[in-house]
Amino acid sequence: MSAFHEERVLSVHHWTDRLFSFTTTRDAGLRFSNGHFTMIGLRVDGKPLLRAYSIVSPNYEETLEFLSIKVQDGPLTSRLQHIQVGDSVIVGKKPTGTLLIDYLVPGKRLYLLSTGTGMAPFLSIIRDPETYEKFEEVILVHGVREVKELAYHDYLTQELPQHEFLGEMVSKQLKYYPTVTREPFKNQGRVTDLIENGKLFADLGVPALNREEDRVMICGSSAMLRDLKEMMEARGLAEGNTTTPGDFVIERAFVG
Ligand code: A2P
Repeated sequence: MSAFHEERVLSVHHWTDRLFSFTTTRDAGLRFSNGHFTMIGLRVDGKPLLRAYSIVSPNYEETLEFLSIKVQDGPLTSRLQHIQVGDSVIVGKKPTGTLLIDYLVPGKRLYLLSTGTGMAPFLSIIRDPETYEKFEEVILVHGVREVKELAYHDYLTQELPQHEFLGEMVSKQLKYYPTVTREPFKNQGRVTDLIENGKLFADLGVPALNREEDRVMICGSSAMLRDLKEMMEARGLAEGNTTTPGDFVIERAFVG
């Protein structure tokens, strides 16, 4: 039996020359939790070429969505960036990962800290009603180089608060904090610096990050994961995993 489903591309959206997203059909048998990643890719010369991708879409949707960088000499993304509606992509049957609210001990506030495409799993998590049942406040931080890389910015600020079922929870409990490092924007600076200098908390009107109230999920580049892990531990937060829940969790699947 194959480890993959063949799916069809339903839509493609190019955010920038470095970033795109696409939706596909979803096999009725595919089960996953919000925050999970799975292997996806293309058949190249008949052989599957796959990489780990977080699932952007929540698990109750009938279709799947993914967010990807475009690496011009990347074995997969140099090809994947050219996909068109109707093309076939392969999707692994066994989604997995550590960015699940189940792997966090209860808390008051949930921080979702991301850079670049690291935001992908959080788009699924912020559309899970359980997230808002477990946490009073949900804070989504997305750090990018340029304003145009703030994928889903308009969706998060305009559409999601109007969502038929999630709108009320989102409006009351979700705070979205986009930040840009290489050009002017209302929020500027790296996520790490904004935590260190307290600007993130001052802007949001919340107490500084603390173990008593706060739980954290982290997804981004390997340097960002390393730096934030160190900062969490310096503040007394303990890392959780699939067997032992903790105060923070990290996704390492995408980095070498
Ligand atoms: P910077 O512009 O200062 O490098 P990338 O596109 O390279 O993945 O970067 C996405 C965002 O992550 C950029 O804003 C970048 O800032 C930021 N970044 C890079 N390294 C780190 C790190 N170690 N900690 C926090 N943010 C980082």
